[in-house]
Amino acid sequence: MESATPRPHRAARPAQPLTGSIAVPGDKSISHRALMFGALAVGRTRISGLLEGEDVLRTAAAMRALGADISRDGADWVVSGRGIGGLTEPADVLDMGNSGTAARLLAGILATHDFYSVMTGDASLRNRPMRRVIEPLKSTGAQFFSREGGRLPLTIIGARDALPVSYRLPVASAQVKSAILLAGLNAPGITEVEEPEPTRDHSENMLKHFGATISVASVGHGRVIRLTGQPELRGADVAVPGDPSSAAFPLVAALLVPGSSVTVQGVGLNPLRTGLFETLREMGAALEVTNQRIEGGEPVGDITATYTSLRAVDVPARRAPSMIDEYPILAVVCAAAKGSSRLRGLHELRVKESDRLAATAALLRVNGVHVEIEDDDLIVHGGGNLPGGGLVETHMDHRLAMSALVLGQVTGQPVSIDDARFIDTSFPGFLRLMRGLGARVEAA
Ligand code: S3P
Repeated sequence: MESATPRPHRAARPAQPLTGSIAVPGDKSISHRALMFGALAVGRTRISGLLEGEDVLRTAAAMRALGADISRDGADWVVSGRGIGGLTEPADVLDMGNSGTAARLLAGILATHDFYSVMTGDASLRNRPMRRVIEPLKSTGAQFFSREGGRLPLTIIGARDALPVSYRLPVASAQVKSAILLAGLNAPGITEVEEPEPTRDHSENMLKHFGATISVASVGHGRVIRLTGQPELRGADVAVPGDPSSAAFPLVAALLVPGSSVTVQGVGLNPLRTGLFETLREMGAALEVTNQRIEGGEPVGDITATYTSLRAVDVPARRAPSMIDEYPILAVVCAAAKGSSRLRGLHELRVKESDRLAATAALLRVNGVHVEIEDDDLIVHGGGNLPGGGLVETHMDHRLAMSALVLGQVTGQPVSIDDARFIDTSFPGFLRLMRGLGARVEAA
Protein backbone atom coordinates (compact mmCIF):
# COMPACT_ATOMS: atom_id res chain seq x y z
CA MET A 1 0.00 0.00 0.00
CA GLU A 2 1.70 3.18 -1.20
CA SER A 3 -0.12 5.77 0.88
CA ALA A 4 -0.74 5.43 4.61
CA THR A 5 -3.63 7.89 4.51
CA PRO A 6 -7.16 6.66 3.71
CA ARG A 7 -8.65 8.04 0.50
CA PRO A 8 -12.37 8.66 0.93
CA HIS A 9 -14.41 8.84 -2.29
CA ARG A 10 -17.95 9.69 -3.28
CA ALA A 11 -20.10 8.41 -6.15
CA ALA A 12 -23.18 10.13 -7.53
CA ARG A 13 -25.77 9.65 -10.23
CA PRO A 14 -24.35 10.58 -13.65
CA ALA A 15 -26.18 13.07 -15.87
CA GLN A 16 -25.82 10.80 -18.93
CA PRO A 17 -26.02 7.07 -19.57
CA LEU A 18 -22.75 5.11 -19.32
CA THR A 19 -21.26 4.18 -22.69
CA GLY A 20 -18.01 2.83 -24.06
CA SER A 21 -15.91 -0.18 -24.90
CA ILE A 22 -13.09 -1.01 -22.49
CA ALA A 23 -10.73 -3.74 -21.37
CA VAL A 24 -10.25 -4.57 -17.69
CA PRO A 25 -6.95 -5.71 -16.09
CA GLY A 26 -5.87 -9.35 -16.20
CA ASP A 27 -7.38 -12.12 -14.13
CA LYS A 28 -6.05 -12.12 -10.58
CA SER A 29 -6.22 -15.88 -10.03
CA ILE A 30 -4.45 -16.67 -13.30
CA SER A 31 -1.83 -13.94 -12.73
CA HIS A 32 -0.76 -15.34 -9.33
CA ARG A 33 -0.55 -18.83 -10.79
CA ALA A 34 1.41 -17.79 -13.88
CA LEU A 35 4.14 -16.27 -11.67
CA MET A 36 4.22 -19.24 -9.29
CA PHE A 37 4.22 -21.98 -11.93
CA GLY A 38 6.71 -19.97 -13.98
CA ALA A 39 9.04 -19.85 -10.95
CA LEU A 40 8.74 -23.64 -10.53
CA ALA A 41 9.32 -24.40 -14.20
CA VAL A 42 12.57 -24.91 -16.04
CA GLY A 43 13.20 -22.24 -18.65
CA ARG A 44 11.38 -19.08 -19.55
CA THR A 45 7.72 -18.16 -19.02
CA ARG A 46 6.45 -15.10 -20.85
CA ILE A 47 3.22 -13.66 -19.45
CA SER A 48 1.06 -11.18 -21.35
CA GLY A 49 -1.79 -9.31 -19.69
CA LEU A 50 -0.54 -9.93 -16.13
CA LEU A 51 -2.58 -8.05 -13.54
CA GLU A 52 -0.25 -5.44 -12.08
CA GLY A 53 -2.35 -5.05 -8.94
CA GLU A 54 -0.92 -4.97 -5.42
CA ASP A 55 -1.88 -8.60 -4.70
CA VAL A 56 -0.07 -10.00 -7.73
CA LEU A 57 2.97 -7.75 -7.20
CA ARG A 58 3.27 -9.35 -3.75
CA THR A 59 3.45 -12.76 -5.39
CA ALA A 60 6.10 -11.50 -7.82
CA ALA A 61 8.17 -10.13 -4.92
CA ALA A 62 7.84 -13.37 -2.94
CA MET A 63 8.89 -15.56 -5.88
CA ARG A 64 11.88 -13.29 -6.44
CA ALA A 65 12.80 -13.57 -2.75
CA LEU A 66 12.71 -17.36 -3.23
CA GLY A 67 15.21 -17.20 -6.08
CA ALA A 68 13.19 -16.85 -9.29
CA ASP A 69 14.22 -14.24 -11.81
CA ILE A 70 11.19 -12.10 -12.69
CA SER A 71 11.29 -8.99 -14.84
CA ARG A 72 9.07 -6.79 -16.95
CA ASP A 73 9.76 -6.82 -20.69
CA GLY A 74 7.72 -4.14 -22.43
CA ALA A 75 4.10 -4.95 -21.61
CA ASP A 76 4.95 -8.58 -20.78
CA TRP A 77 6.46 -10.21 -17.72
CA VAL A 78 9.19 -12.82 -18.02
CA VAL A 79 9.95 -15.46 -15.39
CA SER A 80 13.07 -17.63 -15.39
CA GLY A 81 12.17 -20.54 -13.17
CA ARG A 82 14.24 -22.62 -10.75
CA GLY A 83 12.61 -25.99 -11.46
CA ILE A 84 10.56 -28.12 -9.04
CA GLY A 85 12.15 -28.07 -5.59
CA GLY A 86 14.69 -25.47 -6.76
CA LEU A 87 13.58 -22.45 -4.76
CA THR A 88 15.89 -21.21 -2.00
CA GLU A 89 15.43 -19.92 1.55
CA PRO A 90 14.26 -16.29 1.62
CA ALA A 91 16.47 -13.81 3.49
CA ASP A 92 13.51 -12.05 5.09
CA VAL A 93 9.85 -12.38 6.02
CA LEU A 94 7.54 -12.78 2.99
CA ASP A 95 4.85 -10.07 3.15
CA MET A 96 1.78 -11.08 1.15
CA GLY A 97 -0.05 -7.79 1.74
CA ASN A 98 -3.84 -8.15 1.37
CA SER A 99 -3.80 -11.36 -0.67
CA GLY A 100 -5.28 -14.60 0.65
CA THR A 101 -4.62 -16.33 -2.66
CA ALA A 102 -0.92 -15.41 -2.59
CA ALA A 103 -0.53 -16.54 1.02
CA ARG A 104 -2.39 -19.84 0.73
CA LEU A 105 -0.89 -20.92 -2.58
CA LEU A 106 2.59 -19.99 -1.39
CA ALA A 107 2.09 -22.05 1.79
CA GLY A 108 1.67 -25.05 -0.52
CA ILE A 109 4.92 -24.34 -2.35
CA LEU A 110 6.85 -23.74 0.89
CA ALA A 111 5.54 -26.93 2.53
CA THR A 112 7.65 -29.08 0.21
CA HIS A 113 10.78 -26.93 0.06
CA ASP A 114 13.27 -27.98 2.73
CA PHE A 115 13.92 -24.60 4.37
CA TYR A 116 12.68 -22.09 6.93
CA SER A 117 10.37 -19.25 5.95
CA VAL A 118 7.98 -16.81 7.60
CA MET A 119 4.93 -15.28 5.95
CA THR A 120 2.91 -12.28 7.06
CA GLY A 121 0.37 -9.84 5.61
CA ASP A 122 -1.65 -6.70 6.30
CA ALA A 123 -4.21 -6.42 9.11
CA SER A 124 -6.96 -7.96 6.93
CA LEU A 125 -4.86 -10.96 5.87
CA ARG A 126 -3.49 -11.50 9.39
CA ASN A 127 -7.08 -12.00 10.47
CA ARG A 128 -7.93 -14.66 7.87
CA PRO A 129 -7.93 -18.40 8.58
CA MET A 130 -4.91 -20.36 7.38
CA ARG A 131 -5.74 -23.60 9.17
CA ARG A 132 -7.62 -24.73 6.09
CA VAL A 133 -4.26 -25.04 4.29
CA ILE A 134 -2.06 -25.82 7.31
CA GLU A 135 -3.98 -28.99 8.24
CA PRO A 136 -3.74 -30.80 4.88
CA LEU A 137 -0.22 -29.48 4.19
CA LYS A 138 1.06 -30.95 7.50
CA SER A 139 0.58 -34.38 5.94
CA THR A 140 3.52 -33.63 3.63
CA GLY A 141 5.76 -33.67 6.72
CA ALA A 142 6.08 -29.86 6.86
CA GLN A 143 5.86 -28.04 10.19
CA PHE A 144 3.79 -24.90 10.72
CA PHE A 145 3.79 -22.44 13.61
CA SER A 146 1.08 -19.81 13.54
CA ARG A 147 -0.67 -17.34 15.79
CA GLU A 148 -3.77 -18.48 17.64
CA GLY A 149 -6.55 -19.59 15.28
CA GLY A 150 -4.08 -20.51 12.53
CA ARG A 151 -3.43 -16.87 11.69
CA LEU A 152 -0.41 -15.14 10.15
CA PRO A 153 2.46 -14.56 10.76
CA LEU A 154 3.14 -18.16 9.88
CA THR A 155 6.45 -19.98 10.14
CA ILE A 156 6.93 -22.91 7.78
CA ILE A 157 9.65 -25.52 7.96
CA GLY A 158 9.34 -27.37 4.70
CA ALA A 159 9.47 -31.18 4.54
CA ARG A 160 12.81 -32.74 3.69
CA ASP A 161 11.35 -35.92 2.17
CA ALA A 162 7.86 -34.73 1.36
CA LEU A 163 4.93 -37.13 1.23
CA PRO A 164 2.09 -36.79 -1.28
CA VAL A 165 -1.26 -35.75 0.22
CA SER A 166 -4.66 -37.29 -0.36
CA TYR A 167 -7.39 -34.94 0.82
CA ARG A 168 -11.12 -34.30 0.50
CA LEU A 169 -11.83 -30.57 0.76
CA PRO A 170 -14.20 -29.77 3.65
CA VAL A 171 -14.92 -26.35 2.07
CA ALA A 172 -15.24 -25.51 -1.61
CA SER A 173 -11.98 -23.61 -2.00
CA ALA A 174 -9.78 -23.31 -5.07
CA GLN A 175 -7.07 -21.85 -2.85
CA VAL A 176 -6.90 -24.95 -0.65
CA LYS A 177 -7.04 -27.25 -3.68
CA SER A 178 -4.25 -25.29 -5.37
CA ALA A 179 -2.07 -25.21 -2.23
CA ILE A 180 -2.19 -29.02 -2.05
CA LEU A 181 -1.42 -29.40 -5.77
CA LEU A 182 1.50 -26.97 -5.51
CA ALA A 183 2.88 -28.95 -2.55
CA GLY A 184 2.39 -32.16 -4.51
CA LEU A 185 4.67 -30.93 -7.27
CA ASN A 186 7.69 -31.67 -5.04
CA ALA A 187 6.44 -34.89 -3.43
CA PRO A 188 7.08 -38.22 -5.16
CA GLY A 189 3.93 -40.21 -6.00
CA ILE A 190 0.33 -39.19 -6.54
CA THR A 191 -1.24 -36.18 -4.81
CA GLU A 192 -5.02 -36.45 -4.80
CA VAL A 193 -7.62 -33.79 -4.04
CA GLU A 194 -11.35 -34.41 -4.02
CA GLU A 195 -13.64 -31.40 -4.15
CA PRO A 196 -17.33 -31.92 -3.35
CA GLU A 197 -18.26 -28.93 -5.56
CA PRO A 198 -16.15 -27.87 -8.54
CA THR A 199 -14.11 -24.70 -7.92
CA ARG A 200 -12.09 -22.60 -10.37
CA ASP A 201 -9.69 -24.89 -12.21
CA HIS A 202 -6.97 -22.47 -13.31
CA SER A 203 -4.28 -24.44 -11.45
CA GLU A 204 -5.24 -27.67 -13.19
CA ASN A 205 -5.33 -25.95 -16.60
CA MET A 206 -1.98 -24.29 -16.07
CA LEU A 207 -0.32 -27.44 -14.75
CA LYS A 208 -1.35 -29.19 -17.98
CA HIS A 209 -0.08 -26.24 -19.98
CA PHE A 210 3.33 -26.48 -18.24
CA GLY A 211 3.57 -30.22 -18.95
CA ALA A 212 2.53 -31.85 -15.65
CA THR A 213 0.71 -35.20 -15.59
CA ILE A 214 -2.67 -34.43 -14.05
CA SER A 215 -6.11 -36.01 -14.40
CA VAL A 216 -9.51 -34.63 -13.47
CA ALA A 217 -12.47 -37.00 -13.02
CA SER A 218 -16.09 -36.14 -12.19
CA VAL A 219 -17.44 -37.77 -9.04
CA GLY A 220 -21.06 -36.92 -8.17
CA HIS A 221 -21.32 -33.12 -8.28
CA GLY A 222 -17.61 -32.78 -7.63
CA ARG A 223 -14.24 -33.76 -9.01
CA VAL A 224 -11.14 -35.74 -8.12
CA ILE A 225 -7.79 -34.34 -9.27
CA ARG A 226 -4.69 -36.53 -9.38
CA LEU A 227 -1.26 -35.06 -9.90
CA THR A 228 1.95 -37.04 -10.46
CA GLY A 229 4.72 -35.56 -8.30
CA GLN A 230 8.12 -34.30 -9.36
CA PRO A 231 7.41 -33.67 -13.02
CA GLU A 232 9.64 -31.40 -15.02
CA LEU A 233 7.55 -28.30 -15.60
CA ARG A 234 8.59 -26.48 -18.74
CA GLY A 235 8.28 -22.69 -18.98
CA ALA A 236 5.43 -21.67 -21.28
CA ASP A 237 3.75 -18.58 -22.65
CA VAL A 238 0.66 -17.49 -20.72
CA ALA A 239 -1.96 -15.03 -22.04
CA VAL A 240 -3.97 -13.75 -19.06
CA PRO A 241 -7.60 -12.92 -19.95
CA GLY A 242 -9.48 -9.94 -18.50
CA ASP A 243 -10.75 -10.69 -15.01
CA PRO A 244 -14.50 -11.51 -15.02
CA SER A 245 -14.61 -10.47 -11.35
CA SER A 246 -13.38 -6.99 -12.36
CA ALA A 247 -15.54 -6.81 -15.52
CA ALA A 248 -18.53 -7.29 -13.22
CA PHE A 249 -18.34 -3.70 -11.93
CA PRO A 250 -18.61 -1.70 -15.20
CA LEU A 251 -21.07 -4.26 -16.62
CA VAL A 252 -23.37 -3.99 -13.61
CA ALA A 253 -23.13 -0.20 -13.68
CA ALA A 254 -24.36 -0.31 -17.30
CA LEU A 255 -27.26 -2.61 -16.36
CA LEU A 256 -28.38 -0.20 -13.63
CA VAL A 257 -27.97 3.29 -15.13
CA PRO A 258 -30.89 3.98 -17.51
CA GLY A 259 -29.99 4.12 -21.21
CA SER A 260 -26.45 2.69 -20.75
CA SER A 261 -24.55 0.23 -22.92
CA VAL A 262 -21.00 -0.86 -22.09
CA THR A 263 -18.73 -3.48 -23.68
CA VAL A 264 -15.85 -5.14 -21.86
CA GLN A 265 -13.46 -6.85 -24.28
CA GLY A 266 -11.47 -10.01 -23.71
CA VAL A 267 -13.13 -11.22 -20.51
CA GLY A 268 -12.27 -14.69 -19.20
CA LEU A 269 -15.32 -16.94 -19.50
CA ASN A 270 -14.13 -20.07 -17.70
CA PRO A 271 -17.46 -21.75 -16.77
CA LEU A 272 -16.29 -22.08 -13.15
CA ARG A 273 -16.13 -18.27 -12.95
CA THR A 274 -19.30 -17.14 -14.72
CA GLY A 275 -22.01 -17.69 -12.09
CA LEU A 276 -22.68 -13.94 -11.88
CA PHE A 277 -23.45 -13.65 -15.61
CA GLU A 278 -25.81 -16.67 -15.37
CA THR A 279 -27.54 -15.05 -12.40
CA LEU A 280 -27.84 -11.66 -14.09
CA ARG A 281 -29.48 -13.33 -17.11
CA GLU A 282 -32.00 -14.99 -14.76
CA MET A 283 -32.79 -11.49 -13.51
CA GLY A 284 -33.56 -10.43 -17.08
CA ALA A 285 -30.27 -8.69 -17.87
CA ALA A 286 -29.33 -8.00 -21.47
CA LEU A 287 -25.81 -9.45 -21.63
CA GLU A 288 -24.45 -10.33 -25.04
CA VAL A 289 -21.24 -12.30 -25.55
CA THR A 290 -19.45 -11.88 -28.88
CA ASN A 291 -16.10 -12.77 -30.38
CA GLN A 292 -15.79 -15.95 -28.31
CA ARG A 293 -12.39 -17.58 -28.58
CA ILE A 294 -9.84 -19.66 -26.68
CA GLU A 295 -6.74 -17.77 -25.52
CA GLY A 296 -3.98 -19.43 -23.52
CA GLY A 297 -6.24 -22.43 -22.85
CA GLU A 298 -9.07 -20.33 -21.33
CA PRO A 299 -12.34 -19.29 -23.04
CA VAL A 300 -12.54 -15.54 -23.63
CA GLY A 301 -15.15 -13.20 -25.13
CA ASP A 302 -16.41 -9.62 -25.32
CA ILE A 303 -19.44 -8.87 -23.12
CA THR A 304 -21.92 -6.07 -23.76
CA ALA A 305 -24.32 -5.05 -21.00
CA THR A 306 -27.32 -2.89 -21.89
CA TYR A 307 -29.63 -1.25 -19.37
CA THR A 308 -32.72 -3.32 -18.60
CA SER A 309 -35.13 -3.37 -15.73
CA LEU A 310 -34.32 -6.38 -13.56
CA ARG A 311 -36.32 -8.78 -11.38
CA ALA A 312 -35.38 -10.49 -8.11
CA VAL A 313 -33.54 -13.82 -8.08
CA ASP A 314 -33.04 -16.86 -5.84
CA VAL A 315 -29.42 -18.02 -6.15
CA PRO A 316 -28.75 -21.63 -5.07
CA ALA A 317 -25.85 -22.33 -2.69
CA ARG A 318 -24.34 -24.70 -5.26
CA ARG A 319 -23.58 -21.77 -7.55
CA ALA A 320 -21.48 -19.97 -4.92
CA PRO A 321 -18.03 -21.30 -5.96
CA SER A 322 -18.51 -19.97 -9.51
CA MET A 323 -19.28 -16.45 -8.29
CA ILE A 324 -17.81 -16.32 -4.80
CA ASP A 325 -16.21 -12.89 -5.28
CA GLU A 326 -19.28 -11.39 -6.97
CA TYR A 327 -21.82 -11.38 -4.11
CA PRO A 328 -21.23 -7.77 -3.00
CA ILE A 329 -21.90 -6.43 -6.51
CA LEU A 330 -24.79 -8.89 -7.01
CA ALA A 331 -26.35 -7.61 -3.77
CA VAL A 332 -26.19 -4.09 -5.27
CA VAL A 333 -28.03 -5.38 -8.36
CA CYS A 334 -30.64 -7.03 -6.13
CA ALA A 335 -31.24 -3.72 -4.34
CA ALA A 336 -32.15 -2.16 -7.69
CA ALA A 337 -34.20 -5.14 -8.95
CA LYS A 338 -37.93 -5.56 -8.46
CA GLY A 339 -38.78 -7.90 -5.55
CA SER A 340 -36.93 -9.76 -2.81
CA SER A 341 -33.82 -11.76 -3.71
CA ARG A 342 -32.28 -14.57 -1.69
CA LEU A 343 -28.58 -15.39 -2.08
CA ARG A 344 -28.03 -18.76 -0.41
CA GLY A 345 -25.17 -20.51 1.35
CA LEU A 346 -22.76 -17.61 1.80
CA HIS A 347 -20.77 -18.87 4.83
CA GLU A 348 -17.46 -18.56 2.92
CA LEU A 349 -18.05 -14.81 2.52
CA ARG A 350 -17.39 -14.43 6.24
CA VAL A 351 -13.67 -15.23 5.72
CA LYS A 352 -12.84 -13.07 2.70
CA GLU A 353 -10.83 -9.81 2.75
CA SER A 354 -13.51 -8.74 5.27
CA ASP A 355 -16.59 -10.47 6.68
CA ARG A 356 -18.27 -9.81 3.35
CA LEU A 357 -21.65 -11.14 4.41
CA ALA A 358 -22.00 -8.64 7.26
CA ALA A 359 -20.21 -5.87 5.37
CA THR A 360 -22.37 -6.24 2.23
CA ALA A 361 -25.52 -6.09 4.34
CA ALA A 362 -24.15 -2.98 6.09
CA LEU A 363 -23.22 -1.38 2.75
CA LEU A 364 -26.84 -1.60 1.60
CA ARG A 365 -28.45 -0.80 4.96
CA VAL A 366 -26.53 2.42 5.44
CA ASN A 367 -27.92 3.47 2.05
CA GLY A 368 -31.53 2.78 2.99
CA VAL A 369 -32.00 -0.73 1.54
CA HIS A 370 -33.85 -3.32 3.62
CA VAL A 371 -31.60 -6.38 4.02
CA GLU A 372 -31.72 -9.48 6.21
CA ILE A 373 -29.23 -12.22 7.02
CA GLU A 374 -30.83 -15.60 7.79
CA ASP A 375 -28.22 -18.21 8.71
CA ASP A 376 -25.90 -18.09 5.69
CA ASP A 377 -28.41 -16.48 3.32
CA LEU A 378 -28.55 -12.82 2.35
CA ILE A 379 -32.01 -11.45 1.59
CA VAL A 380 -32.22 -8.14 -0.25
CA HIS A 381 -35.57 -6.36 -0.57
CA GLY A 382 -35.25 -4.41 -3.78
CA GLY A 383 -37.46 -2.41 -6.03
CA GLY A 384 -38.14 0.69 -3.96
CA ASN A 385 -36.31 3.89 -4.61
CA LEU A 386 -32.67 3.78 -3.52
CA PRO A 387 -32.07 6.60 -1.05
CA GLY A 388 -28.25 6.38 -0.78
CA GLY A 389 -26.54 9.08 1.28
CA GLY A 390 -24.58 6.57 3.38
CA LEU A 391 -20.91 6.32 4.30
CA VAL A 392 -19.75 2.78 3.61
CA GLU A 393 -16.98 1.21 5.69
CA THR A 394 -14.88 -0.87 3.32
CA HIS A 395 -12.79 -2.82 5.90
CA MET A 396 -9.68 -3.00 3.64
CA ASP A 397 -11.83 -4.83 1.05
CA HIS A 398 -11.48 -3.81 -2.62
CA ARG A 399 -14.73 -5.43 -3.75
CA LEU A 400 -16.81 -3.63 -1.14
CA ALA A 401 -15.28 -0.32 -2.21
CA MET A 402 -16.08 -0.89 -5.90
CA SER A 403 -19.58 -2.21 -5.17
CA ALA A 404 -20.43 0.87 -3.12
CA LEU A 405 -19.20 3.21 -5.86
CA VAL A 406 -21.37 1.40 -8.44
CA LEU A 407 -24.38 1.66 -6.11
CA GLY A 408 -23.80 5.42 -5.94
CA GLN A 409 -24.51 5.66 -9.70
CA VAL A 410 -28.21 4.92 -9.07
CA THR A 411 -29.05 6.30 -5.61
CA GLY A 412 -30.95 9.50 -4.84
CA GLN A 413 -28.09 10.87 -2.72
CA PRO A 414 -24.37 10.23 -3.27
CA VAL A 415 -22.75 7.16 -1.70
CA SER A 416 -19.45 7.68 0.14
CA ILE A 417 -16.70 5.20 1.01
CA ASP A 418 -14.12 5.60 3.73
CA ASP A 419 -11.16 4.42 1.62
CA ALA A 420 -10.51 3.69 -2.06
CA ARG A 421 -6.87 2.59 -1.68
CA PHE A 422 -7.54 -1.14 -1.60
CA ILE A 423 -9.14 -1.06 -5.07
CA ASP A 424 -5.56 -1.28 -6.37
CA THR A 425 -5.20 -4.81 -4.99
CA SER A 426 -7.27 -6.20 -7.88
CA PHE A 427 -8.33 -3.36 -10.21
CA PRO A 428 -5.75 -0.61 -10.71
CA GLY A 429 -7.29 2.09 -12.90
CA PHE A 430 -10.86 1.36 -11.80
CA LEU A 431 -11.71 4.99 -11.00
CA ARG A 432 -10.28 6.32 -14.27
CA LEU A 433 -11.99 3.61 -16.28
CA MET A 434 -15.38 4.21 -14.67
CA ARG A 435 -15.08 7.96 -15.21
CA GLY A 436 -14.26 7.27 -18.87
CA LEU A 437 -17.62 5.50 -19.21
CA GLY A 438 -19.34 8.53 -17.72
CA ALA A 439 -19.65 7.42 -14.10
CA ARG A 440 -19.44 10.06 -11.38
CA VAL A 441 -16.77 9.17 -8.84
CA GLU A 442 -14.63 11.73 -7.07
CA ALA A 443 -12.29 12.07 -4.13
CA ALA A 444 -14.27 13.27 -1.11
C1 S3P B 1 -9.27 -17.73 -5.55
C2 S3P B 1 -10.22 -18.52 -4.93
C3 S3P B 1 -11.33 -17.98 -4.15
C4 S3P B 1 -11.55 -16.49 -4.43
C5 S3P B 1 -10.28 -15.71 -4.47
C6 S3P B 1 -9.35 -16.26 -5.53
C7 S3P B 1 -8.17 -18.38 -6.26
O1 S3P B 1 -11.04 -18.13 -2.78
O2 S3P B 1 -12.40 -15.93 -3.46
O3 S3P B 1 -10.52 -14.34 -4.75
O4 S3P B 1 -7.46 -17.69 -7.04
O5 S3P B 1 -7.98 -19.60 -6.10
P1 S3P B 1 -11.40 -19.49 -1.97
O6 S3P B 1 -10.54 -20.57 -2.47
O7 S3P B 1 -11.09 -19.16 -0.53
O8 S3P B 1 -12.85 -19.71 -2.22
